[in-house]
Amino acid sequence: MIILQGRTKRTVTEAAEGKTLLQLALKAKAEWGSSCQRGTCARCRCLIVDGMEHLEPVTDAEWDRLEPEELEQGYRLSCQAVIRSDHANVEVKHKPYF
Ligand code: FES
Repeated sequence: MIILQGRTKRTVTEAAEGKTLLQLALKAKAEWGSSCQRGTCARCRCLIVDGMEHLEPVTDAEWDRLEPEELEQGYRLSCQAVIRSDHANVEVKHKPYF
């Protein structure tokens, strides 16, 4: 189960192996921002509240765009964060810079 917390709305959807958090958020019509979908704009930045182990490792685009401290705190770019399994449980908050 994937819990997507937007600014005012919470959306719950099924996990899907190989999909990004952003793909799931868009499909579920979650309250979520995005633009470039390739890891540069950071409008899809999010905080993984729970379940980081169910996501593929941080991508090169995320290392380039986010600060090491942000990655340490659990921030990811949802267009880059790929879900590892159909049974993944992840809770994530959309946290753009502005
Ligand atoms: S949509 Fe631009 S960084 Fe994810």
